[in-house]
Amino acid sequence: MTVWIINGPNLNMLGIREPEIYGKETLADLERFCRAAGAACGAAVEFFQSNHEGELVTMIQQALGRADGIVINPAAYTHTSVAILDALKAVALPAVEVHLSDVSRREEFRRVSYSSLGCRKVIAGKGFEGYREAIGWLTKLTEEEIPKEKAKRNL
Ligand code: DQA
Repeated sequence: MTVWIINGPNLNMLGIREPEIYGKETLADLERFCRAAGAACGAAVEFFQSNHEGELVTMIQQALGRADGIVINPAAYTHTSVAILDALKAVALPAVEVHLSDVSRREEFRRVSYSSLGCRKVIAGKGFEGYREAIGWLTKLTEEEIPKEKAKRNL
């Protein structure tokens, strides 16, 4: 089981940017946290971050055939990007959208999420824990779905 964790713009500034909202820990801390969370449930984790919408689209496309599931925090592109939504729909891998902050309790524009329409689940406002929950959820889903798929195809 392999989970790709894809992070969008400004998440490389974690620890510096608005610590009252995003906390004092850095992106490197988040990567360590996700690797440990993956190891605890037997999942291999690949961890990415980009400030560029097109690069995020390419990463999602490259997950096809390489990842069993995607955890994505598209950051500001959540609220604007049809391209990221289309990429998630194109690969059709199980995906979970994660936000460190509770986007439902912030500015009005953060309540709109295009990318969530290509995701099976959204977790917001739980900080790093949201990533752990997403990895665990995908691991469980994959463990349940793979045997069902195999049964369907008589494998
Ligand atoms: C964010 C929330 C977004 O609205 C914001 O643009 C981000 C981070 C979060 O993790 O809480 O950059 O995705």
